[in-house]
Amino acid sequence: MNREDFPLLKQDIIYFDNSATSLKPKIVIDKMTDYYTNYPANAHRGDYDLSYKVDKEYEEARELVANFIHAKNIEEVIFTSGTTESLNMIVDGFFKNLLEPGDEVLLTTSEHASNILPWFRLSNKKDIKIGYIPLDNHYYVTLDNVKNAITNKTKVISIAGITNVIGDIRPIKEITKYAHEHNIFVVLDGAQMVPHMSIDVTNLDIDFLAFSAHKMCGPTGVGVLYGKKEFLEHLEPTILGGGMNESFDNPNEIYLKDLPTRLEAGTRNIAGVIGFAKTIEYLNQIGMDNIHKKELELRNYLIEKLLPIKHIDIINIESDSGIVSFNVNGIFSQDVAYYLNKYNICVRAGNHCAKILKSSVGIENSVRISLYFYNTYEEIDALVELLSDYDKIVKEMI
Ligand code: ALA
Repeated sequence: MNREDFPLLKQDIIYFDNSATSLKPKIVIDKMTDYYTNYPANAHRGDYDLSYKVDKEYEEARELVANFIHAKNIEEVIFTSGTTESLNMIVDGFFKNLLEPGDEVLLTTSEHASNILPWFRLSNKKDIKIGYIPLDNHYYVTLDNVKNAITNKTKVISIAGITNVIGDIRPIKEITKYAHEHNIFVVLDGAQMVPHMSIDVTNLDIDFLAFSAHKMCGPTGVGVLYGKKEFLEHLEPTILGGGMNESFDNPNEIYLKDLPTRLEAGTRNIAGVIGFAKTIEYLNQIGMDNIHKKELELRNYLIEKLLPIKHIDIINIESDSGIVSFNVNGIFSQDVAYYLNKYNICVRAGNHCAKILKSSVGIENSVRISLYFYNTYEEIDALVELLSDYDKIVKEMI
């Protein structure tokens, strides 16, 4: 689907590492080149036409993103450098001030480092308790397990919408409903979800959402922090500087601008934001439901082909996203990746930044195939053929 849009796919490469970062369509690359070539002015600072054009496109990008995630207000979209920065801002700018010693934050063991480490640091600094929602036999989060994990100290549930190794889709709406009935905030790490299916933050009633452009056909170095307006207004900027202040005369008189500018200090990644706007238009044209459907078809095909291979153990047979993690018996995952690389097949191997997942799954490393809409059945056939031959893997893996 839409393969002709991606310059890299003209090369003899099979790209199965879309959860790490996706490929970029030419339309996005061209838009960024256009900005750098023809109107490379700063945003929100210049009183001349070049700069006005930048201001307009930068703010149009915000509107496109707000509509894409169905935010109620445009000011609820803050441009950051990516999911990691967004999550750090949520923890350090909002919850650090709000939570009291003894309060509890619930995570899961399948979270990515970006949704664990900021909480761990807060836990050390403020004596916040970290709890884990147990995963079921398929490594899924169920509402019952959420209910059982909540205590009268729980103040926040911070989880991924789709996890980056197991690829399970979490029942977010049910979780936010139950959490809000118990005055618990819900933070969603959307890095692996927003690129792959439509999301409606208003309908899901999420309090905060973080995601990155580069995993959804957009540029690197751009991400989004979404928050309900009433919460973002209390999010203290973690970075201060130009653009976001109204005036300052001395340490006691610092006046900041309103949302969203207040949370976007310094010169932002303007080319990236403008490129991201093109990305959103591009994805809208294809349709997020079509993207999700195509990925599931590819996933089912891949699972069907891998299942009969005796020397392959699939970790997440049951999941419902384009992520398939597995191991080849007795062979280190990175050696499998190295072997596939010899045939120009890109996969990720290792722990995938989900370093405490091993406590639930019992497996530290795996090979991960992460699909996107431009992958094909033929690519999967080529992969499966190489993986089917155990002796060949052993012979060629080093
Ligand atoms: N978080 C990215 C991944 O899972 C880098 O591969």
